[in-house]
Amino acid sequence: MRVLGIETSCDETAAAIYDGAGGLLAHRLFSQIDLHAKYGGVVPELASRDHVRKLVPLVEEVMEASGSNSTDIHGVAYTSGPGLVGALLVGAAVGRSLAYGWGVPAVGVHHLEGHLLAPMLEPDPPAFPFLALLVSGGHTLIAEVTGLGQYRIMGSSLDDAAGEAFDKTAKMLGLPYPGGPHLARLAESGRPGKFQFPRPMLDRPGFDFSFSGLKTAVVVTVRGLQSGGTQLDDQTRADVARAFQDAVVDTLATKVARALAETGATSLVVAGGVGANKHLRQTLLAMGQRKGVRVSYPRPEFCTDNAAMIAYAGYLRLEGGQHEDLAIRAQARWPIDQLRPPNAR
Ligand code: KG4
Ligand code: ZN
Repeated sequence: MRVLGIETSCDETAAAIYDGAGGLLAHRLFSQIDLHAKYGGVVPELASRDHVRKLVPLVEEVMEASGSNSTDIHGVAYTSGPGLVGALLVGAAVGRSLAYGWGVPAVGVHHLEGHLLAPMLEPDPPAFPFLALLVSGGHTLIAEVTGLGQYRIMGSSLDDAAGEAFDKTAKMLGLPYPGGPHLARLAESGRPGKFQFPRPMLDRPGFDFSFSGLKTAVVVTVRGLQSGGTQLDDQTRADVARAFQDAVVDTLATKVARALAETGATSLVVAGGVGANKHLRQTLLAMGQRKGVRVSYPRPEFCTDNAAMIAYAGYLRLEGGQHEDLAIRAQARWPIDQLRPPNAR
C-alpha cells in the first residue's frame, strides 16, 4: 500500500509518500520561518494562506520524486489536528479532495501520533510497547504506548510546553524566532553552573511538568543583570542559555527516569521538536545505557514537523482497516488519549 501524507498543522507545509514495501519514498517540506520571523511568532492567517500557495506544488514534487502517478496511490493521510484550524483546513481539504478524486480512502491523522511514530521510520525501529517522551512546541507529555492508538498519558505540562519555554526564553535573550535551536546553539558556549535555575515540579510526585516558573526565574535573572541599562555580553547570554537548557533537560530526564521505574519499560521513544536537542538526546541516551533501556529517536529533521510521520501513521491506520466518511476533518483541539486503534468502534 502506498500513501500520500500531508502536514499543514502550523508553520510547515509538507508532503511525503510512504510505501509498505519500499518504505519512505519521498518527502518535501517548506518552512514558513521567514514569513513569521518578523512578527516573533506564527501569524495564523499568514500560515493558512501560505499553505494554500505551497501545498499542491509540494504534492506534485513528491509524486514525481517517488515515481508515482495517481493510480499508484492507495490512500491519503492528512493531519487533522491538533493545530491552527485554518492551517489544518488547507491540508484536510486538499487531502480529502485528492482521495475523493483518485477514488481511494483518506484518513485524518493526529499530529502527535505522527510525532510518536516518527522513530519507526528509522533503521532498526522500536517496537510496541514503549514509554514515550513527546516534547514539541505545543505539547510536553509522557505516555505509555502499548500499540497504535493506545496511549496512556502519565503526565503532561500544566502550562508552557518545553518548546514554548525554549522559544520564549530565546526571545528574552534576543534570539530570532523560533528560538529553540538558536538557544541550544548559544548554550554550547555557555559555562556550566554560572547560573542556577529551578527544576520545576521535581519535588512533587507524578509526571506532570510546569515550565512557567523556570521562565520567570530566567526573566528575573536577565532583568537583574540588565539593571542600570547594561546589555548582556555574549558570554553571559550563553551562560544563561546553558543554565536554562540544563534545567529543562534535567527536569525532563528526572521525570522520564521515574516513569521508567514505575512502568518497568525497557524501551524509550523521544519525539517532537525539542527531541532534536543534542543535550537532551545525549542525556537520555546515557541514562538508557545505565538502566539497560533502549532509547530511540527520529533523525533531527523528523523530530520537528514533517509529512513523513503523517504518511507513516496514516499508512498504519489504513493498513489496520480504518475507514472514514467523506467529511473534511480539522480540529484545533484533540486530546491524544481519545485515539483508538484503527479498527476499534
Ligand atoms: O514538533 P515541532 O516541530 O512543532 C510542534 O508540533 O509544536 O516543535 C517545534 C518546537 C519549537 O518550540 C522549537 O523551538 C523546538 O521545537 N526545537 C528545539 C530544537 N529544535 C526545535 N528546542 C530545543 N532544541 C532544539 N535543538
Ligand atoms: Zn509537531
